[in-house]
Amino acid sequence: MAEGKKVALTGIQPSGTPHIGNYLGMIRPALDLARDYEAYYFLADEHALTTVRDPKLLREQTYEIAAVLLALGLDPERVVFYRQSDVPETFELTFILSCVTPKGLLNRAHAYKDMVAENEAAGRPPDDGVSMGLYSYPVLMAADILIVDAHVVPVGSDQRQHVEMARDIAEAFNRTYGDVLTLPEPLIDPAVATITGVDGRKMSKSYGNVVPIFAADDELRKLVMRIVTDSRRPEEPKDPATDSLFGIYAHFAPPDRVDAMRQRYVQGGVGYAEVKTELAELLQERFAEPRARYEALMADRAQIDAVLAEGARRARLVTAAVLTRVRRAVGIEA
Ligand code: ADP
Ligand code: TRP
Repeated sequence: MAEGKKVALTGIQPSGTPHIGNYLGMIRPALDLARDYEAYYFLADEHALTTVRDPKLLREQTYEIAAVLLALGLDPERVVFYRQSDVPETFELTFILSCVTPKGLLNRAHAYKDMVAENEAAGRPPDDGVSMGLYSYPVLMAADILIVDAHVVPVGSDQRQHVEMARDIAEAFNRTYGDVLTLPEPLIDPAVATITGVDGRKMSKSYGNVVPIFAADDELRKLVMRIVTDSRRPEEPKDPATDSLFGIYAHFAPPDRVDAMRQRYVQGGVGYAEVKTELAELLQERFAEPRARYEALMADRAQIDAVLAEGARRARLVTAAVLTRVRRAVGIEA
């Protein structure tokens, strides 16, 4: 790998079927970054243990995400591509970091706060159903990032707080032990922000509202037709800025078609069903080729295993060195 390049790292949990929100928010920008950075991509399978309780499903979803990334153009020769659980240095670093992480920092994590708020609204004890894994999720994520000295972390905007916490934790460590850890920054594509799901909430693997990247044609059409819109009739003017269907369309149609569609929205004269039909066609076209590669990969899991094993071997050349630095800094190793 070329000397002097900055390091980019990102991860994705195998907690469900990857969708076009993941694609636009993280996968595409992260793959683009591989040109200019020393890039690390990993499958956050240990993070997924906070929600996935079915071992077979976890394995299946891990292969699925690996195949999706490879099919979309991740080149494992140029980037380091691995499974989190294959890099044990991360877990030792997690505990060391947790010793400098103020508990109050974790009390402020959105995912945890949302669960407490939900419990309180339902009259349950505040920590009902909150595991220590969920509570300390941000510390493991900090370890993922800090164990390779990442400078930038390309993510969707919902992950901004997690990356900022990783930076806070690195600063806390450095205050105690000197200038040991690299301070990371989130890298968020301002044009993407958050993609909306078919039900109008954030598109998320955990909400059952996704348009999968590699859905079969008829399933894809069905899902796109289900995207929630307001009830304006075709002839009525519509607002492209607030319509989430237009928001998705604009990411996949060529710029001239986006402009033309925006005008038809503002003037009236286009029905949502027509936009949906066009969007389904655009998605089919965009993902037809990678989908064929995806299917071939899913039929050859030994190939995926070999790619990930080689990725872990390369990752550990770096993570072992960073962990040694940390162990020496805290006094565990001479
Ligand atoms: P999910 O919420 O679907 O489980 P993850 O939390 O695994 O997704 O997110 C993987 C990556 O995809 C993250 O970088 C996240 O910010 C991005 N991402 C997830 N959902 C969206 C969305 N609806 N719009 C844009 N980016 C998203
Ligand atoms: N929490 C991230 C998500 O849900 C996944 C993740 C785990 C991650 N570790 C990471 C992302 C490190 C970036 C860097 O999307």
